[in-house]
Amino acid sequence: MKFFLDTANVDEIKRINELGLVDGVTTNPTIISREGRDFEEVVKEIASIVEGPVSAEVIGLTTEEMVKEARVLAKWAENIVVKIPMTEDGLRAVHLLSKEGIKTNVTLIFTVSQGLMAAKAGATYVSPFIGRLEDIGVDGVALVENLRELFDFYQLEAEIISASIRSLKHVEEVAEVGSHIATIPGTLFPKLWSHPLTDNGIATFLKDWEAFKK
Ligand code: G3P
Repeated sequence: MKFFLDTANVDEIKRINELGLVDGVTTNPTIISREGRDFEEVVKEIASIVEGPVSAEVIGLTTEEMVKEARVLAKWAENIVVKIPMTEDGLRAVHLLSKEGIKTNVTLIFTVSQGLMAAKAGATYVSPFIGRLEDIGVDGVALVENLRELFDFYQLEAEIISASIRSLKHVEEVAEVGSHIATIPGTLFPKLWSHPLTDNGIATFLKDWEAFKK
């Protein structure tokens, strides 16, 4: 499974990218607004730091607006992926953009049928929202599992980005059911390599070593 960072915070991206763990970055208008920086400036900076795909979302809601914005975003850097909301206008935009070779990430996917429609329309990535489904009592991990089975069975090329990931358990579970990618908030990511028993183990080893040297 590939690991994307779900953040627009450049310090978080640099820190985790230095460990060789960042396969890509996803953003959305909420994430960008948290940084209080110019949209174009921050997206271009992120795209220059990471080699993998960087998703930047359109704001327009009509096909015409989305396609217009997407063409501009795609010119900002070679690794830009245009994030499009899962609507009828969005699907039409995805279809047009795929014919132009512009990569898309269809966001706000909550059902198997939405995922199938996005993949069929030509999306490069589809993003089911795990945490938000759990918020309403629906199993988001099962959605990822079903989508993966169907994409494989019908040989659909789109990759699944498990999004709205809120816990280590989410990351482990979507990995187990074959998500191609998990996009993880910058604040959650360090928990993937941490464990209190690791820290306790190091402290004990050092204490014993000091006692032995005396
Ligand atoms: O990847 C989508 C994510 O940014 C939304 O997460 O926690 O707001 O549902 P959340």
